[in-house]
Amino acid sequence: MTTEIKICMGSACFAKGNQENLEFIKQYIEENNLDSEITIIGSLCENKCEKGPRIIINDKEYTNVTPDYIEKILKEQ
Ligand code: FES
Repeated sequence: MTTEIKICMGSACFAKGNQENLEFIKQYIEENNLDSEITIIGSLCENKCEKGPRIIINDKEYTNVTPDYIEKILKEQ
C-alpha cells in the first residue's frame, strides 16, 4: 500500500516546523528506499495554523508534529 503524506506548506505551519519535517521525511524516504511507497504532496493553509505544524497521512490529520512523531507514525503504516 502506498502512503500519501500531505504537508501543510502555509507560512505558519512551515515556520512552526514543517520545513524541518519535510526535510526529515525526504531523508527517511531516501534512507529506507521508500520512493515508490511514499508520495509527498504540499497542501495550502486550511486555517488550522494554531494546531500546526500540520501533516495529513493517508487522510488522517496529525497536528503539532515533530520529526520524532512522524517517524513513529511512518513505522506504524
Ligand atoms: S499554515 Fe498550516 S493550517 Fe495554516
